[in-house]
Amino acid sequence: MVIAMLTPITNSGIDFEIDTENPEAALALIELCKRLLNFVCTFKRINIPDEDDISNRTCHRILISLNYAIEDIKTTKNRDYLKEIRQLSRKESQFQYLFDVLATAKTLAIPDIGVLRGTSTGSCVYGEVSLHQMRSFVRELRIGAKDVFMDLGSGYGQLCCLVSAYAGVEKSIGIEILKNLHDAGVKHKNEFERLMKYFGKEHKEIELIHGDMTDFEDKIKTEPTVIFVNNYKFDPMLTHKLKKIFMGCEDGTRIISPIPLVTADEYSKFHHWKAESLVPMTYSRKLKIVPENVSWCHNKPCEFTLTTINRNRAPFSR
Ligand SMILES: C[S@@+](CC[C@H](N)C(=O)[O-])C[C@H]1O[C@@H](n2cnc3c(N)ncnc32)[C@H](O)[C@@H]1O
Repeated sequence: MVIAMLTPITNSGIDFEIDTENPEAALALIELCKRLLNFVCTFKRINIPDEDDISNRTCHRILISLNYAIEDIKTTKNRDYLKEIRQLSRKESQFQYLFDVLATAKTLAIPDIGVLRGTSTGSCVYGEVSLHQMRSFVRELRIGAKDVFMDLGSGYGQLCCLVSAYAGVEKSIGIEILKNLHDAGVKHKNEFERLMKYFGKEHKEIELIHGDMTDFEDKIKTEPTVIFVNNYKFDPMLTHKLKKIFMGCEDGTRIISPIPLVTADEYSKFHHWKAESLVPMTYSRKLKIVPENVSWCHNKPCEFTLTTINRNRAPFSR
């Protein structure tokens, strides 16, 4: 292990440790150069090698050049540099920069993305919702500082990290049943947090839990104000248990899911609703969607429904 330090580009940031002998670290350094430190490389004409050409020596050489260049543009207060730093603090550029930070954290933490797909079947089949789609939810639902976000079946936790930093929620919680995905999530979260510190950026607590979501009934009922559940492949038993749990959530809790928790048909038969049902205590609507919003379906975007818990809802309204 050969640890080297990358100098922070902002005054509030701290050094970023890189093991120059670790092939993933070298790839992540290339990603950083291409995405977040591109302005430094362009200005100082630092050649970024292709992924295939990277070796320990080139990794070390780039680090030295970068550190020298960063110190230089910081002390000379280069115009492009100041512009870039201003951009970092603008809400609108936040998303692109978070997107790049998350991509770099993924390269560092999950070198083999086959780990994510694995051989799981049934409810545990892996698939991802795009970060662009999650940004759209955050904007449309005005998710913010007063909210607690929970992702049920959080995979490697990228949505929790994004919502935490982009929406500035009080807390982000992910629950994932598969150990390999949870472990990848913890590594990813650590790399995400290291990169955020490097850029001098803050976010609130992110809690990633390993376990079966149905064992966390009290937590689901009392903590989140916004729940995301990618139930696209959930089996009927899991769906049934979850709906029962959601029936105990507080009024105002908002639940986003690709498969509606209550169908239009169930709402229309409101008179016949069973005693144990979400029908009389929720209303639902479709959410705005963006192109290519999920990893499992490329020809058309997947729909998403918002179900809001409201025990005072007017009868017969949807
Ligand atoms: C389709 S993936 C969603 C990943 C991520 N939330 C996203 O949408 O990008 C569904 C995840 O739910 C997890 N899962 C399935 N059943 C679960 C359970 N009972 N408790 C916790 N996680 C579960 C799976 O292992 C899988 O990682």
